Amino acid sequence: MALNIIVLAAGQGKRMHSALPKMLHTLAGKTLLHHVVAAAEALHPAVIYVVYGHEGTKIQNQSRNLQVQWVEQKQQLGTGHAVAQVLPLITNEGSVLILVGDVPLITPAILQKLLTETAPNEIGLITVIMSNPTGLGRILRDPKGKIIGIIEDKDATLEQKKIQEINTGIIVAPVDCLRRWLPKLQNNNTQGEYYLPDIMAMAVAEGIPITAVQADSPYEVQGVNDRVQLAMLERHYQRQLANKLMLAGVTLRDPDRLDVRGELQVAHDVTIDVNVIIEGNVVIGKNSFIGSNTLLRDVKIGENVTIKANSVIEEATIADDCVIGPFARIRPGTKLEQGVHIGNFVEVKKSAIGVASKINHLSYVGDATVGREVNIGAGTITCNYDGINKHQTIIEDRVFIGSDTQLVAPVTIGHDAIIGAGSTVTQDAPAEALTLTQRLEQRSQKINRDRGE
Ligand code: UD1
Ligand code: CA
Repeated sequence: MALNIIVLAAGQGKRMHSALPKMLHTLAGKTLLHHVVAAAEALHPAVIYVVYGHEGTKIQNQSRNLQVQWVEQKQQLGTGHAVAQVLPLITNEGSVLILVGDVPLITPAILQKLLTETAPNEIGLITVIMSNPTGLGRILRDPKGKIIGIIEDKDATLEQKKIQEINTGIIVAPVDCLRRWLPKLQNNNTQGEYYLPDIMAMAVAEGIPITAVQADSPYEVQGVNDRVQLAMLERHYQRQLANKLMLAGVTLRDPDRLDVRGELQVAHDVTIDVNVIIEGNVVIGKNSFIGSNTLLRDVKIGENVTIKANSVIEEATIADDCVIGPFARIRPGTKLEQGVHIGNFVEVKKSAIGVASKINHLSYVGDATVGREVNIGAGTITCNYDGINKHQTIIEDRVFIGSDTQLVAPVTIGHDAIIGAGSTVTQDAPAEALTLTQRLEQRSQKINRDRGE
């Protein structure tokens, strides 16, 4: 039978103390909502409904890539009330799986287990034993171990507060039961809210069995209510990922000092030094080395590449055997062919650099096409912008550019040309020729370096 999923995400997240809705806070570079919806999608449901409240347009704008149906809960009157907003929209009967939007590390595996173990006309929920269950709903069981209800922390007696088995908030229930029960929920509790977990006692009253599935790890059902919990889950997520990388043959100099905020694909015998940040889609080929304090965003790196410390590389392709940094900045639209060297304090933007070419010191190369075996001296600048338009610089194969040269684009330097140091090149330079702009005469005169009075 078709499965519907409801993600409860309307709470304002008071404990985050943030202008940003809680669902839009990120873990490993993706919003909390994104994580939950991704787990939901893995179950191939008919529809995923997301109940939102605060900042609806902001949430929807930030979630354009999610295939969900948005349902507004104008006033946040509780989790039971939130589910009630969706019921009129559900057309097929069967069961509905209710997820909480602030449990980002929920796995499809545990959700599948819940669906498999709960019979079609029955209720199921995921519980977990917490060493510190403070703040959470406690599972009430009779002496035989049968679930008889859930009591919220704020409504619990001292005796009930000792119970360590808690409600994760993840529940599966038949739609027709919810239609019968939700209108009957009362809000005569400490928080004055319509609690979804109160349906458990209603199920018991009707003799409908409740199946509890235990989560394997507390992390997969841990909710994010404040930034301490968010940071704790981030560290857990990052450590799990680091372990996976190491087990696949990657050396991490310190597994606690790598942050992956996107998708990282790494071949074996790659070494990653400390404090590296990966964003977007990054691919690293075998035997490559990523130096410390490096940021890689949407980069494809070949084999045997060395990226030295403190480099920032974004939206670029780097072929095998390149050597980059330290302190290099490679900006979007850059393509480095095999064996290119980019040294310290060099910025390259939207440029293609040919095989074995070198730009080793203090240069800016932007909107340029550079051939193979070119050597660009220290302090060379492509003057690509005239204040209105960007222009191209073309440097053909085996050109040598002397230090402190300005190439005023659009300009082409012919193959095998040499440009003398300190030149300002405003016209095309012919191939196989030395080009240099006129230099001022060098003069010297005697000086008195005596400072005595
Ligand atoms: C809830 C459960 C508690 C459980 C805990 C697990 C209730 C009453 N309590 O408590 O038993 O142990 O989760 O994390 O359900 N939401 C709405 N609309 C509302 C209120 C909440 O959409 O009117 C959403 C929130 O955005 C959140 C989820 O429901 O994603 C849970 O709400 P929250 O306020 O965080 O409930 P807890 O106090 O954590
Ligand atoms: Ca919560």
